[in-house]
Amino acid sequence: MCGIVGYTGREAALDVVIEGLERLEYRGYDSAGVTVLADGRLATEKRAGKLAVLRKRLAEDPLPAATMGIGHTRWATHGGPTDANAHPHLDDAQRVAVVHNGIIENFAQLRAEIAERGHTLRSETDTEVVAHLLGEAYEGDLAEAMRAVCRRLDGAFTLVAVHADAPDVVVGARRNSPLVVGRGEGENFLASDVAAFIAYTREAIELGQDQVVELRRDGVTVTNFDGSPAEVREYHVDWDASAAEKGGYDYFMLKEIAEQPKAVADTLLGRIGTDGRLTLDELRMPASVLREVDKVVIVACGTAFHAGLIAKYVIEHWTRVPCEVEVASEFRYRDPIMNDRTLVIAISQSGETMDTLMAVRHAREQGAKVLAICNTNGSTIPRESDAVLYTHAGPEVAVASTKAFLTQLVACYLVALYLGQARGGRRDNEILTVIAQIGDAPKQVEQVLGTMEPVRALARSLADTHAVLFLGRHVGFPVALEGALKLKELAYMHAEGFAAGELKHGPIALIDDGLPVVVVVPSPRGRSILHDKIVSNIQEIRARGARTIVIAEEGDEAVVPYADHLVRIPATPTLLQPLVSTVPLQVFACELATAKGHEVDQPRNLAKSVTVE
Ligand code: F6R
Repeated sequence: MCGIVGYTGREAALDVVIEGLERLEYRGYDSAGVTVLADGRLATEKRAGKLAVLRKRLAEDPLPAATMGIGHTRWATHGGPTDANAHPHLDDAQRVAVVHNGIIENFAQLRAEIAERGHTLRSETDTEVVAHLLGEAYEGDLAEAMRAVCRRLDGAFTLVAVHADAPDVVVGARRNSPLVVGRGEGENFLASDVAAFIAYTREAIELGQDQVVELRRDGVTVTNFDGSPAEVREYHVDWDASAAEKGGYDYFMLKEIAEQPKAVADTLLGRIGTDGRLTLDELRMPASVLREVDKVVIVACGTAFHAGLIAKYVIEHWTRVPCEVEVASEFRYRDPIMNDRTLVIAISQSGETMDTLMAVRHAREQGAKVLAICNTNGSTIPRESDAVLYTHAGPEVAVASTKAFLTQLVACYLVALYLGQARGGRRDNEILTVIAQIGDAPKQVEQVLGTMEPVRALARSLADTHAVLFLGRHVGFPVALEGALKLKELAYMHAEGFAAGELKHGPIALIDDGLPVVVVVPSPRGRSILHDKIVSNIQEIRARGARTIVIAEEGDEAVVPYADHLVRIPATPTLLQPLVSTVPLQVFACELATAKGHEVDQPRNLAKSVTVE
């Protein structure tokens, strides 16, 4: 939520900052702004609306040439998306400019104090107070001023500031919200995400909690809020700029859907040994700890929560350990029962979702062990967990999650199988079989992607539809929820996912003539009762006028008479089926939203990384 960029070096700062903001626009697109420092003066331009509005304004009225600057793309929290509320914010003397991601919880009190001291507040934001406080605190050392101000702030924040009297110095501060340093040759960068500077450098420094960084052209100094030197972790980013570009696709979402076979393969890579067993030594969780676990609790939000719902089926089946799944935003408020034998799995693409982070902290306070499943190297959730299993989806830029979800599923399967493997027992052989079968997933996802044209055509034909229902049973139920979520967020329409068996307890009343209902059908092999039951459910809804869109595996002939539209997926064991059955639902939502004229990469009101509770 909110993207921040800071730069000092030799290049034209404005170009570097704007390019960085472009790559961070997925984090929020309510407004954008930049400040550069030229000839001892700060020059600022900021505009409500997407970055394109700011770009246009800058083309009409350029800022002076400069080699240092900061920028911001906003997801509004305090104060609506107006020019005045756009960042950067400046102090009265126009000597300090600051950008911010997060929420300063004691801002009302600070605002009153500042107003009392005679400052003029020009926006409704919590951020502006920081500009005034920094202006007051500055005595020739911006990092020192930043540390002093941060000690007065409550809440979650990343701040980046420049001062007109400090040429070549960009200062950043981090508490809870993300901030990384990019190290270049004779230039350095600060950003919410490495994507912002990946075209310039792949060498990064991860900042910890409550740290302040002072960036100069030829040096980076990191301290804690109390001024003591801080320990930081340097790392090399293992993907390049092309991964964060559209690469010929119209939308990032299309590219990311297409990348799924590789993302799934990369997440499996190196984790299956030549003996057919899993090797997850990277978890650094000894088998003895895993054998002691007597309860698993999964916390996550949105799409990641749906991955967690699927994980419950496989964890309980393969390990016989009870597993609960909860939306992270509810978790800590209900006094959940945990102890040192509880394994909490936190699933998060960004690793920065505040609801999930707070759940992680609560779990650790209760003595539980926390394992993060995350796609973002060095982000806060893995840093604060006992162990991490990284998904290797690469950067996901489109706001709606696709490849991150499939790789989260793979990671959940791996954790469940590994837990089962470590504990041993009567499912040992089944576990070995599944480990072998999951290796087929990349190929199967590829196969599904190759047959999506009829799904696209169907989606386009439904552009005027007002509602779509999604039904599933067993692991198909969370897939139905995910299909509905994708459609809601992209096409802004009523979409609901239901457990197919639950329909008759109420929701069946929604069905009337022509209502499209997508049904995810489990494999007819193996658990065929499940299959038979859903075939009956399809007949029930069809008898009431539903237009049925049936997703069923190849060779499943039982569904044919009841399917108005049939989408075939490769034959897969039911527990692994979400890896293939989700894909048509992503394509369906993306195409339907595009047909409605919506911008699929940046749906209204959303931001990718939700760093507020
Ligand atoms: C929906 C979507 C969101 C995220 C959720 C959690 O397409 O992307 O629902 O899944 O905000 O985000 P992470 O995984 O970053 O914690």
